[in-house]
Amino acid sequence: MIDTENVTCDTCTAPAGMTVDASDEASRNWPRVDIEANSYKADFPLFAARPEVVFLDSGATSQRPQCVLDAQADFYRTMNANPLRGLYSLSVEATQAIADVRAQIARFIGVVDEHGRARASEVVFCRNTSEALNIVAKCFAPTVLEPGDEVAITIMEHHSNLIPWQQVCAATGAKLVYLYPTKTGEFSDEEIAAKIGPRTKIVSAAHVSNVLGVENPIAKLAAAVHAQGGHMVVDAAQSIPHMPVDVQELGADFLAFSAHKVFGPMGVGVLWGRAELLDAAEPLLTGGEMIDSVTEQGAVWAPVPEKFEAGTQDAAGIYATGVALDYLERVGLAAVAEREAALTHYAMSRMVELPFVDIIGSIYWDRHHGPISFNVRGIHPHDVASIMDMDGVCIRAGHHCAQPLLTWLGVENLACCRMSLAFYNDKADIDRFIESLQHVWNVFNG
Ligand code: ALA
Repeated sequence: MIDTENVTCDTCTAPAGMTVDASDEASRNWPRVDIEANSYKADFPLFAARPEVVFLDSGATSQRPQCVLDAQADFYRTMNANPLRGLYSLSVEATQAIADVRAQIARFIGVVDEHGRARASEVVFCRNTSEALNIVAKCFAPTVLEPGDEVAITIMEHHSNLIPWQQVCAATGAKLVYLYPTKTGEFSDEEIAAKIGPRTKIVSAAHVSNVLGVENPIAKLAAAVHAQGGHMVVDAAQSIPHMPVDVQELGADFLAFSAHKVFGPMGVGVLWGRAELLDAAEPLLTGGEMIDSVTEQGAVWAPVPEKFEAGTQDAAGIYATGVALDYLERVGLAAVAEREAALTHYAMSRMVELPFVDIIGSIYWDRHHGPISFNVRGIHPHDVASIMDMDGVCIRAGHHCAQPLLTWLGVENLACCRMSLAFYNDKADIDRFIESLQHVWNVFNG
């Protein structure tokens, strides 16, 4: 079991130099995957084009495999026409390609009926996770919120899953309530019971935190809000590249993610929502192809998903997103999770050997799914990232679009460094990262 006594400070920031307890059950069971071997990098052209780069910023955006780049070009080369608008076969083909990806995504996240058939019409395409969450907050939430009601989110939310709730609460007179985790990044039953009550109409939470990397207990939060007759919204942007995501297992009513974090193109977002909830919501954007009929003074919306898809979609991007998910399924989510666990174990074991590095969040490798945030003592995170860039090491530094979390953690300068892993990383990447951290320290203390 995790020894929470080892974390002695008042925030999630573990004391520098703390070693991962060898007697810890999780430490004993880290997957013995050969992280020196790497058959994956060759699939990603950027690594051949930029051999100097150690890419540890996949939490911000992943790299894309050749098959995804090819798919995007193939769409324009072989089936380019505006989907939904043409009656000629090329346009019908483009329309079908998008419909196929919609059904594929539905199956990928467990949106299937009792016969295992995809409920594709519940999958809405938009630009990114931010837009998807804005649709839920601004178009669905007002249908259920009244003054005095509550929306509960966690303190570790990305601004995309925070500012839209601030706005809708201000507009409806509802109250925005925060769930706070323990020092090790977990939500106690007491906190859940205290914050999710009869007034709670919506709980919205990240499946995996983009800063702490911790997986949140979505099914537990969903059960708590459902017991009050409310709804569960899941920001899956940081979980979908790392683990199987099934809306039925999570107990979600809405789920959002972006293609670009899951090896697909930038500019494609996915919102899934239960049909009756999407039906009740107003569209965020209005215009082309989202209507059934229009008169001089009014319009009748098309059914979902078209109601939420005004204007021409990024059809090539959607097509390539399907290829990205095929690619990920060929790699296998179990293999991804095991390799990333081994990489995380190795990275954190090396990081805790550096007495000047403070890991932010849990010091245990099995609590991190992609991101590992940290600071280098006495050195501003922007300086750390800039010096590491000179070594070819790409990390993110700043507030990570999570200012309330960094404020609550008491992180100095409201900024920290974050390395974030994907399955295409390897031991050599981690070794270069550690060497570069030492270089950063030597520049200021050498
Ligand atoms: N949301 C992305 C991140 O956390 C950009 O880096």
